[in-house]
Amino acid sequence: MAKKYQKSLWTILVCDGDSCREHKSKKVAKRLKEAVKTHQLEQSVAVRKGDCMKHCKRGPIVRIQPANIEYERVKPKEAAAILDALLAQIPEAADD
Ligand code: FES
Repeated sequence: MAKKYQKSLWTILVCDGDSCREHKSKKVAKRLKEAVKTHQLEQSVAVRKGDCMKHCKRGPIVRIQPANIEYERVKPKEAAAILDALLAQIPEAADD
């Protein structure tokens, strides 16, 4: 059974600038979306493309808002771990 989380809390921005795209940012975004779906978190976590975050040499960059947590040199296989780390911070919704 999936846990319940509060709605619309987090946005995961994946840099879609040229340099990050050269380093597989699209695949990172795809894996993050898959992980969100696997955990049934579509209501709580949005994965979006972002403009260049000005850290091109350290890309792909993933930024989590509103906490402003940033990951550098993210590999697609690390997407699930990023989401797991985020889940540890998301408050569960209280049972009614
Ligand atoms: S292209 Fe991603 S930080 Fe610049």
